[in-house]
Amino acid sequence: MAKFITFEGIDGAGKSTHIAFVADLLRAQGLQVITTREPGGTTLGEALREVLLHQKMHLETEAMLMFAARREHLAQVIEPALARGDWVISDRFTDATFAYQGGGRQLPLAKLEALEQWVHPHLQPDLTLLFDVPLEVARTRLDATRTLDKFEQEKADFFAATRAEYLRRAAQFPERFRVIDATRTIAEVQQELKQIISSLPSQPGGKQ
Ligand code: TMP
Repeated sequence: MAKFITFEGIDGAGKSTHIAFVADLLRAQGLQVITTREPGGTTLGEALREVLLHQKMHLETEAMLMFAARREHLAQVIEPALARGDWVISDRFTDATFAYQGGGRQLPLAKLEALEQWVHPHLQPDLTLLFDVPLEVARTRLDATRTLDKFEQEKADFFAATRAEYLRRAAQFPERFRVIDATRTIAEVQQELKQIISSLPSQPGGKQ
């Protein structure tokens, strides 16, 4: 059965490096896989991404625009792909809103839960890979040669709160989260990813 896999972590955790690796692992099993991202993934979503990453706005506007982009992404990309039987890998999804807008920006989680209930009451990722690193490690991985976006320019306490909320959610939903120690080498992380993917239900040798 098609699965919905999300990649999460604070900026600089290194998650993006591993998306193509996991997609290729699944494709090697003969599965149809699409990779996408949030905010983004659609023409409107990418336009909203530009605004979200570069313009100052009210914190609630930011949270609502994240969910507006997500609504479009679900309708145009994620839901049709899952309905076709394709696997979907998304670079971030709703856990990012809880972590960044709930943790980092300190918006009440109940407001985010209300938006989540509105936008995707019946859908959750089957698997969420949380790439976890201490803040100092994440900082050193941000590419110093380009201009940092609005989120990347945030201070250490913002990222501490964002990381803490990610870890709190991982503990709250242990059945779908896997916390990956992303301080290790790429090869070590890929080894663990291979094990996680091969133990998924519907994989050859998997649990189901
Ligand atoms: P990216 O750089 O990993 O593509 O993510 C874009 C930025 O948007 C990143 O700093 C995290 C932030 N973000 C939120 O604050 N809330 C969200 O719901 C999502 C999806 C991303």
